[in-house]
Amino acid sequence: MSHEISPLDEAAIESAVAAALTAIRGAGTLGELKDARLAHTGDHAPLTLANRAIGKLAKEDKATAGKLLGRARGRLQQSIQARQRELEALAAEQMLREETVDVTVPATRIPYGSRHPLSTLIDDISDLFVSMGWEIAEGPELEHEWFNFDALNFGPDHPARQMQDTFFVEGGEENHLVLRTHTSPVQARALLERDLPVYIACPGKVFRTDALDASHTPVFHQVEGLAVDKGITMAHLKGTLDHFARVMFGPEARARLRPSFFPFTEPSAEMDLWFPQKKGGAGWIEWGGCGMVNPHVLTACGIDPEEYSGFAFGMGLERTLMLRHGIPDMHDIVEGDIRFSSQFGTTSLGRGI
Ligand code: DAH
Repeated sequence: MSHEISPLDEAAIESAVAAALTAIRGAGTLGELKDARLAHTGDHAPLTLANRAIGKLAKEDKATAGKLLGRARGRLQQSIQARQRELEALAAEQMLREETVDVTVPATRIPYGSRHPLSTLIDDISDLFVSMGWEIAEGPELEHEWFNFDALNFGPDHPARQMQDTFFVEGGEENHLVLRTHTSPVQARALLERDLPVYIACPGKVFRTDALDASHTPVFHQVEGLAVDKGITMAHLKGTLDHFARVMFGPEARARLRPSFFPFTEPSAEMDLWFPQKKGGAGWIEWGGCGMVNPHVLTACGIDPEEYSGFAFGMGLERTLMLRHGIPDMHDIVEGDIRFSSQFGTTSLGRGI
């Protein structure tokens, strides 16, 4: 770079230009381009020095040399500017690529499910009884007629045994199998399977030949309660139901018993609930059935009714859920619409057990 070029040496000027253009076009970054610019157009570059030497030339040569070098240096400036623009564009593009943030929304969304409020209610009720030292019992939904009816003291001609009330399964008449019409058969199962005393709650599915409407559904749920021990009285039943009512419906709620009839309890009662949230003002609302376990049931399960006594109760869970949350239509409970279920939290028991 230090060897001097005569301002009139066209070939030397041309080869200096060629070397400079190669360096400029070969620059891969703005930094490399700056180096090439300084080397070929800076103060000590051969063409700059040659340009400066014009002043020393004879007058008649100055114009020729000026033209030669002016054109040469002009080509370098043009080439530098062109390469500068290219490299700046490349750098900007690279920066954009590196700083890209993907803000696209996923095209497929996985919808979340929601727990059905009945499941939550069943958990709450189970927790309540377990906290009193009771156990949770289960029985089959496809039940033997003996457990569903006979053991519970239903006579052979009881209307509940007829086809218009009960789902008999195909071939059921010979097999004596029915879809259980209530959770009460679990009473007999628990008494046969467990040691005394027995304190069990059994939430579960039951089936009746009802059409679906605003307050009925052919498949619904009940919870059964059974306590068999020495010295059990109706006062224990009343106290248990009052507590159950309060946990479900608040501190003012309580139970009331009205004489009634069930084959498996004697005496039997309809159970009403004092319901502070009742539409149009607090009042009594029918909630379920209950009574003292009929001695025939104890005997059928091999228990001496002289030694042991017990109480039992049963109520519908859809009804309980409707009362508790002011749900006016059974369709909402059975249809499985996520917009319904997702309105309920995963646990609703806020009143303390
Ligand atoms: N099983 C009865 C029903 O489905 C409800 C019932 C009444 C259950 C009295 C009981 C009871 O345990 O003692 O209608």
